[in-house]
Amino acid sequence: MNPGIVTASYIGATILFILALGGLSHPETSRRGNLYAIIGMAIALVVTIAGITANIGILIGGLVIGGSIGLILAKRVQMTEMPELVAILHSLVGLAAVLVGFANFMDPATLFEGVELTIHDIETCLGILIGAITFSGSVIAFGKLSGKIGGNPMLLPARHWLNLGLLITAIYMGKMFVDQSAAGHGGGLIPLLILTGMALLFGIHMVMAIGGADMPVVVSMLNSYSGWAAAATGFMLNNDLLIVTGALVGSSGAILSYIMCRAMNRKFLAVIAGGFGTTTGTVVGAPAAEGEQGEVVAVEAPEVAGLLAEAKEVMIIPGYGMAVAQAQHIVYELTKTLRAKKVNVRFGIHPVAGRMPGHMNVLLAEARVPYDIVFEMDEINGDFPNVDVAVVIGANDIVNPSAQTDPNSPIAGMPVLECWKAKITIVLKRSMATGYAGVQNPLFFKENTRMLFGDAGTTLDAVFKAL
Ligand code: TAP
Repeated sequence: MNPGIVTASYIGATILFILALGGLSHPETSRRGNLYAIIGMAIALVVTIAGITANIGILIGGLVIGGSIGLILAKRVQMTEMPELVAILHSLVGLAAVLVGFANFMDPATLFEGVELTIHDIETCLGILIGAITFSGSVIAFGKLSGKIGGNPMLLPARHWLNLGLLITAIYMGKMFVDQSAAGHGGGLIPLLILTGMALLFGIHMVMAIGGADMPVVVSMLNSYSGWAAAATGFMLNNDLLIVTGALVGSSGAILSYIMCRAMNRKFLAVIAGGFGTTTGTVVGAPAAEGEQGEVVAVEAPEVAGLLAEAKEVMIIPGYGMAVAQAQHIVYELTKTLRAKKVNVRFGIHPVAGRMPGHMNVLLAEARVPYDIVFEMDEINGDFPNVDVAVVIGANDIVNPSAQTDPNSPIAGMPVLECWKAKITIVLKRSMATGYAGVQNPLFFKENTRMLFGDAGTTLDAVFKAL
């Protein structure tokens, strides 16, 4: 194919990928973002395939098999299983980088010499190293997310030393590979195989040490690794589009991991170091006894219905418990009823509400809640003094005032929704149990807080009927 057409198509695809990332940053534009990405990928595939002359049969066969498996998986997957699907797809990107690395190393047609050969060998090492870590790490993340492997962190003694040992051995093997390859074409297979083994072990060990609840950050981090693995593959194959696309995925994944960690007030390195967050939630701070905090005022559904009916401004704050109770549909029914009574109902979404990025947005979109009444935390946090009733549905850490007041709290410094500034706050949960971070919440003991105990689906249904 004409190199000019290839370059122009690659630039077009790159622009579409950037527009796709921009579109995906907001629920309202995300469909458009997906469409840009699909068009960009279609252009990239068509142009790349059109430039290939040999082994077309194998290529088409691979496309049909891979495409069919992808289609079936994507059609079958439940919304809640999305992180698992993403994890297993990342593992394939990693595996592809390893295979391309070995194929490139063994290809007799790649006859480089001198500095060029050294650069090529370093690219091969990096591609295989990142690819193997991504592959084994993603397989373990898939196992943990799907419950095939226990969610508890596996903390071996001296695990940081073990990681360091694996890394140093891998770097040493990389150097041996470059030296032996320079001595004669095809040399260095043994160090390259040992390097691959070390990287696979490193990926397994790194993700095994991370608790199930921290998995969303890990999946986002592996997403970033898969991008860098693709970029390294792009260098090996001399494909500019793969380099750019890999870099886009790598950097956006890294930014998302950073944003998630900041919103959870966790250090990225602390997440990677592991040990926090089990599937059941780790108690990292002793909850204060109820008596020390004050009194809890419990209410029943009819009372809540009365408070809501009298309100002018209502702010709903959904959290992980709404997802557990699958209460999004009844939440929207309630919202429609209140709006019909001229109550201004809005939703306030914390960036890490739930257990994965955009968790609440996806649930609310599924229930068809209009986007224009759903607000990000930063947009509405200043409005609480004007809110008559704040309704917290199965949320805990994201509305914990001790994040602002107690410097010793494990969530100190985490930005929170300041719902206690509303005239009255109603908290829906089943018990006085703590949330993900395992810390007690002083909000429940405040004078203007009312607790509606029970499964959020059941209690909201009762409120709806009373309304
Ligand atoms: P949490 O702090 O985990 O609180 C959820 C609350 O929901 C619990 O206190 C629980 O209390 C209640 N609940 C559970 N099932 C319920 C049901 N069926 N009906 C009613 N209530 C129910 O959740 P959050 O406020 O959404 O905060 C999210 C937390 O997860 C943060 O600490 C965040 O850092 C962490 N995290 C988030 C992410 C992302 S990316 N979103 C990733 C990893 C970790 P009861 O047991 O008493 O009912």
